[in-house]
Amino acid sequence: MRKTYRGERIEVTFDRGLCIHVAECLLRLPEVFALRKRPWIAPDEASPDAVAATVEKCPSGALEYRRLDGGAQEQTAEPATVTPMRNGPLLLRGRFEIRDADGTRRTLPRASLCRCGLSASKPFCDNTHLKERFRAEGEQFRVELSPVRPALEQPMTREEDPRA
Ligand code: SF4
Ligand code: FES
Repeated sequence: MRKTYRGERIEVTFDRGLCIHVAECLLRLPEVFALRKRPWIAPDEASPDAVAATVEKCPSGALEYRRLDGGAQEQTAEPATVTPMRNGPLLLRGRFEIRDADGTRRTLPRASLCRCGLSASKPFCDNTHLKERFRAEGEQFRVELSPVRPALEQPMTREEDPRA
């Protein structure tokens, strides 16, 4: 379920079911994205440009935005790209329509798709690859410790994630 957090100049939406807990949001713009605050996203606490730039770093598509101040909306990658991450998912950038097994369709500007075959929410990655020690070549993805990833190989699960 995608939830909407509306500010004066920009609106941010979040789908916890897509988050892979790399914390680009929490680490880059803590005044806007705060795990324990309610609401956890406060779009007016930084400039719309800063909020938009941070959301565009979210690799899973869990975060999206819509400018309400006339600023540019997200430009999707052209051509769209699919990049295998080392020991992890496929990273998609571009405008993709993605269909779940139950037929649900989502159009996303970014997404992380399961490559290990073990995710419980296919086609999306749910970090099961970490628990199962999946190994495969790919681009190195820099992940930092954060409130949603107290240990690099042990991110918070979606069930533990307090953000609604
Ligand atoms: S994947 Fe989750 S933790 Fe990472 S930037 Fe997106 S919303 Fe934030
Ligand atoms: S690649 Fe992440 S769960 Fe399969």
